[in-house]
Amino acid sequence: MIRSVIVGCGSYLPERVMTNADMAEIVDTSDEWIVARSGIRQRHIAAEGQTTGDLAEAAARDALKHAGLEPADIDLIIVATATPDNTFPATATSVQARLGIRDGAAFDIQAVCSGFIYGLATADNFLKAGQFKRALVIGAETFSRILDWEDRTTCVLFGDGAGAVVVEAQEGAGTSDDRGILTTHLHADGRHHDLLYVDGGPSSTKTVGHLRMSGKEVFRHAVVNLASVINEALEATGLAADDIDWVIPHQANKRILDGTARKLKLAPEKVVVTVDRHGNTSAASVPLAMAEAIRDGRIKRGDMLLLEAMGGGFTWGSALVRW
Ligand code: UT7
Repeated sequence: MIRSVIVGCGSYLPERVMTNADMAEIVDTSDEWIVARSGIRQRHIAAEGQTTGDLAEAAARDALKHAGLEPADIDLIIVATATPDNTFPATATSVQARLGIRDGAAFDIQAVCSGFIYGLATADNFLKAGQFKRALVIGAETFSRILDWEDRTTCVLFGDGAGAVVVEAQEGAGTSDDRGILTTHLHADGRHHDLLYVDGGPSSTKTVGHLRMSGKEVFRHAVVNLASVINEALEATGLAADDIDWVIPHQANKRILDGTARKLKLAPEKVVVTVDRHGNTSAASVPLAMAEAIRDGRIKRGDMLLLEAMGGGFTWGSALVRW
């Protein structure tokens, strides 16, 4: 059978770092509160004029380099983002043009913080169906542009960044020993719109709007939904929590990462954590964390990776990947 094998991973973070102390100069907050409630110590913020497309392109080039491939080798580009450069066309088409790719398909996916998992699952299904051979799946965000910088309950939590993977169709045996994406699981429950949303949009207010969140409610749903979708992935493959080498979660809050790991009896040292330095970068957080753990040598060839995320909608999902 065809397996979608991740053959490269890359990332990009804007140069400017904003610390919790910097935050305390803008809103009534403190380093102690932000660290205790979220585990965040700093986040990266895009420069004036630097767009999601710029971040996505940089991460894509890094992933292609890591894979040892050229832009022309790619025939599908998926950008997961809730902060596109324009309402249309898709940021993915802009990335395609910047990379000098003239053929294949390119589109954006909007599943907010679960966007990268949704994008990876979409690419996996296209590759397994034989429609494309090599995909770039990019999670890229400039959440700093949709934050209400007077709302201390949200603006301290998010950051900008991008991560990308190159996924290639290869022959596999069809067992869990194969390299590549072994299983993906996606969910949505649109009844929870009002708990995490942006209060604007082209068709409603004709504005971009600002992020609004009922943090406590989202937190409660996150731990339950993530545990359930992780169990689903394990059941689908017949694997146990002990078989997982690295958990690469969406980085929303250190307490959510700890709570989910505890619930599933996953060793905390197997969880890749970047939320302390990146904040919540929405669709970018999973590939950003993955790129970091590959680059520093923690993730080794053959390791079993568990990817998971939950975000606005609500949407949530998981993927099991043998590196
Ligand atoms: O990526 C998509 C998914 N997003 C998430 O998963 C986020 C989920 N939620 C969370 O991470 C947490 O709920 C938060 C970090 C957002 C908040 O933590 P919490 O423990 O749920 O705190 P809280 O909202 O209950 O707020 C506690 C207090 C409140 O004061 P009172 O009402 O108790 O007097 C807030 O007004 O903390 C106050 N507060 C702040 N204080 C200092 C809220 N924001 C701040 C702040 N600095 N930035």
